[in-house]
Amino acid sequence: MRIFLSGPMGAGKSTTALRLAQALGLPALDLDAQIEVRGGATVAAIFRDRGEAAFRELEREVLGQILARSDDFVLALGGGTVVDRASRARLLEDGLVVTLQASLDELYRRVGAGTERPLLARGPDVATRLGELLHQRAAAYAECHLFWDTEQEEALLPVIVACLVSPPILVPLGERSYRVRVGAGLLASMEPPADASGVLVVSDDNVHGLWAAEVVRRLDDAGRRVVQVVLPAGEAHKTLAQVEAIWQQALDARLDRDAFVWAIGGGVVTDMAAFAASTLMRGVRVGLAPTSLLAMVDAAVGGKTGFDMRQGKNLVGTFWQPTEVVADLRTLSTLPVLERQSGLAEVVKSAWLDSEQVVVALERDADALAAGDLAALESAVRRSVALKARIVSEDEREAGSRALLNLGHTLGHGFEAAAGLGALGHGQAVALGMLAACRVERALGEGERDTEHRLAHLLQRLGLPTNWEERLDAHVLSFLDVDKKRRGGRTRFILPGSPGHARVHPIEASALGQALRSPGGA
Ligand SMILES: NC(=O)c1ccc[n+]([C@@H]2O[C@H](COP(=O)([O-])OP(=O)(O)OC[C@H]3O[C@@H](n4cnc5c(N)ncnc54)[C@H](O)[C@@H]3O)[C@@H](O)[C@H]2O)c1
Ligand SMILES: [Zn+2]
Repeated sequence: MRIFLSGPMGAGKSTTALRLAQALGLPALDLDAQIEVRGGATVAAIFRDRGEAAFRELEREVLGQILARSDDFVLALGGGTVVDRASRARLLEDGLVVTLQASLDELYRRVGAGTERPLLARGPDVATRLGELLHQRAAAYAECHLFWDTEQEEALLPVIVACLVSPPILVPLGERSYRVRVGAGLLASMEPPADASGVLVVSDDNVHGLWAAEVVRRLDDAGRRVVQVVLPAGEAHKTLAQVEAIWQQALDARLDRDAFVWAIGGGVVTDMAAFAASTLMRGVRVGLAPTSLLAMVDAAVGGKTGFDMRQGKNLVGTFWQPTEVVADLRTLSTLPVLERQSGLAEVVKSAWLDSEQVVVALERDADALAAGDLAALESAVRRSVALKARIVSEDEREAGSRALLNLGHTLGHGFEAAAGLGALGHGQAVALGMLAACRVERALGEGERDTEHRLAHLLQRLGLPTNWEERLDAHVLSFLDVDKKRRGGRTRFILPGSPGHARVHPIEASALGQALRSPGGA
C-alpha cells in the first residue's frame, strides 16, 4: 500500500518519509522536490514569480504523475496539497493518509524565520501566520486515516504496519471526521483519549458481563477514572428514562465537560449513549464500540442519535458524530443468531445501494455469512461501513442522498410495529420491507421481476424471512413510517431499482397502500 504524509510545514514530512520508506523497503518520494524538478525552479521561486494558483496547478499535475506509477512508495506531500478537495479524495482512495502534527510552538521552532517558506513570508509575523494556516487547514488535515504526533516518543512504524494490515475506514466530515476500526480483538486495546478527565462506559445487561466489564476493569487498572452504566437490554428500554439514568450517573460521578462516553453494545445502547453525550453539559465526546452486527454496519456510523417515544421510534434525537468507532468482530461470537441475521439484512441493504459488484460479492459469501464466518463478516462490515461513510460525508443531515439508507425501512417499520414489540426483528422486517418495495416499484411499472427474485433468494440464504404478502394487512399499513420521512405532504419512498440504482420517489401514503395490494404474480 502507498503511504502519504501530510501536515503543516515543519511537521517533518520529508524526514519521516525517508525513515519510513527505509524501514518498509519502499522508495521515498517528495512532492515539493518533484515539483521543483518539473517546474525548473524552487517552490519559493515558483510562488514568487508565477503565483499560488500556478503552483497548485503544477502540484496537481505532478501528483497525478506520481499516482499513475505502478509501484508502492512513501510520499511526503506539500503542506497545502490536501486542501484541494479533489486531490484529497484521490489520496484517501489510493493509500493511507497520515497527518503529522506538532504543537504550534514546536512547528515555529522548526520552521525558524520561515524565509524559504513562501506562505509564511507574507504574514505579519511568522508565528501568527503559521497559526492562521493551521486554522484554515484544520478540516483538510482532519480527513486522514491516522494522526501522528511527531513530538511523542513512540515509533510510527508499528502503528503504520497495523494500519496497513487492517486499514481504518475514514468518515470524512472535515473537523468532525473520525475513523472506524474493524477487526477481531480490538476491544482489548481500546483507549479513550488521553486527555479525557473521566470515562463513562455505557452498556446493557447482556453485553456488560460478556464484553464491557473487561474494558472497565482494564481502564480501572490503568488508573483511569471510570464510571459504568448498565442499562436494561432491548428496544423496549430505548426511552427517555434510560437516557436520564445515563445523565444522572454522569452527574453523580461529577464528570465534567472533558469526560468521554464509551458506548459498548448494540444499536440501542449506541443511540442512547450518544444522545446522552450530545446533550450532557451541552455535549461531550463519545466513542462507540458496536457489538451487534446491525450496530457495526449501521447504527454506530453516521452520527444519528436518539430514543423512542410512545408515538414512534427515534422521534427525539440529535446529530452528534462520535470521535471514533471500534468494531470488534470477536464480540459477534456471542451474538444470538437471530440478531446476526437481523444485521445481515442491513448488509444486504447497503450492498444493494452500493453496486452490482458488491451484491455479487455478497452472493458469493452468503453461506459463510449465514454460518457466522468471521472473515466473511469482516468484509461485509467493511464494505457496509465504507458505503455509509460515503453517503454520510455527502449528506450528513439527510437533506438528500442519505435518505437512500431508508431502503426497506418505510414498509419495514410497518411490519415491525404491526407484529408487536420484539415479535419480528428490525432486520427481518427490513428484509420484508425491501421485497415489498420491489413490488411497489413494479406496480409503478418500473421494477423487474427477476430483480425481486434475486433479492428474495439472497435474503433467504441469509436466513431472513421473505413472506411479506401474508403479513400485509390494514394493521401494517396503519403503521407505515411515513411521518418522519415526509416532506411537503409526501413520503420519500425508496425504490430499490437494480444494485447501485436505488432512488427516492415521493409518494402519497394511499398510493403506497394501493401499489402493495396490486397483484404481483409469482
Ligand atoms: N443511529 C442510526 O443511524 C441507526 C441505524 C440503524 C439502527 N439504529 C438503531 O439501532 C437499534 C437496533 O440495534 P441492535 O439490533 O443492535 O439492537 P440492540 O442494541 O437491542 O441489540 C440487540 C440485542 O442483542 C444484544 N447484544 C448486542 N451485542 C451482543 C453481543 N455481542 N453478544 C450478545 N448479545 C448482544 C443486546 O443486548 C440486545 O438484546 C434500533 O434502536 C435502531 O433504531 C440506529
Ligand atoms: Zn435499519
